Amino acid sequence: MQNINDVRNKLIAQVADSDNPREILKTTELKQLYSVIVTLPVEERGVYGKSINELKQALELAISSREAALEDATVQPIDITAPWDVNTDYPSLLPIEHGTQHPLTLELETIIDIFTRMGFDAIESRQIDDDYHMFGALNFPENHPARDSYDTFRTEEGFISPAHTSTMQNRILVNGRAKLEAGGQIAAVSYGRVFRNEDIDATHEHTFYQCEGVFVSETANLGQMLGTLRSFFEVYYSQKLKIKTQPAYFPFVEPGLEFAIERPVALGGKPGEWLEMLGCGMIHPNVLAAAGIDSTKYRGFAWGGGIERLAMLKYGIEDIRHFESGKLQFLRKFL
Ligand code: PHE
Repeated sequence: MQNINDVRNKLIAQVADSDNPREILKTTELKQLYSVIVTLPVEERGVYGKSINELKQALELAISSREAALEDATVQPIDITAPWDVNTDYPSLLPIEHGTQHPLTLELETIIDIFTRMGFDAIESRQIDDDYHMFGALNFPENHPARDSYDTFRTEEGFISPAHTSTMQNRILVNGRAKLEAGGQIAAVSYGRVFRNEDIDATHEHTFYQCEGVFVSETANLGQMLGTLRSFFEVYYSQKLKIKTQPAYFPFVEPGLEFAIERPVALGGKPGEWLEMLGCGMIHPNVLAAAGIDSTKYRGFAWGGGIERLAMLKYGIEDIRHFESGKLQFLRKFL
């Protein structure tokens, strides 16, 4: 019996160290213990056999727990709350790169920041709209050729992907009417993605961003509008600028203007080189009337233009198509 206990202690110690513990069941020492049974007097065999069986059970238990421990050791402990790359053993195969904001998002934030500091509310525009907000509320008569300069995409149900942020004008006016009638004024910019059915090239995209301003009060006038726009551009480009306007036609403003700045020398311009930045004008009485605003009492101005164009001049970007391209080489320049 002493022998059985010695063998038991020895084998269990071996199991705890073994990489293949089940092999220990085949050990000769164990076989020898079994072979002793037949040599014993019959009356001793029962007790002896029982002891061996106990040894075997203890050994099986030790083997199972050693096997479980070995299996655990080969599985990585996983922290399911950690970022995906923390649990892996292969950092070189899984490059860690964090996303950043798109350059246009950064630019829009800068632009909105300038206007909100001037007192304008900022409202995101819609990416799907209807004919009324795209044309009807903006004084485009049915079948008027001016609709052709806003050629865009339509769904089968007749919804429109807006060709400009002016689709928000009527909503801004309707929402602001109560404020106006309480003696206040309407001052809001809307910004967002717009779409045009264009032949694309370095300066034309089918998808781009605009920012639009609407201001209405009892005394709004063109001088205020030009002052507002000049201030915006001078803050945006961090320098004094020369500005000029020329007449332009948009059904929703009267008079309508194109607003240009002289391209700053610091941004690669030559004196006398003018860049058209946006369209603007005094809000047409029909547009005020469509929003239920009394055009004999209130007047307003509005402007709208592309964001890419501003950023292209600021950063010397030569091709508008980079913005929607998803090219990392381009995007990384704005980290
Ligand atoms: N929505 C016009 C465009 O995209 C620009 C504009 C806005 C003109 C507001 C006048 C007033 O072409």
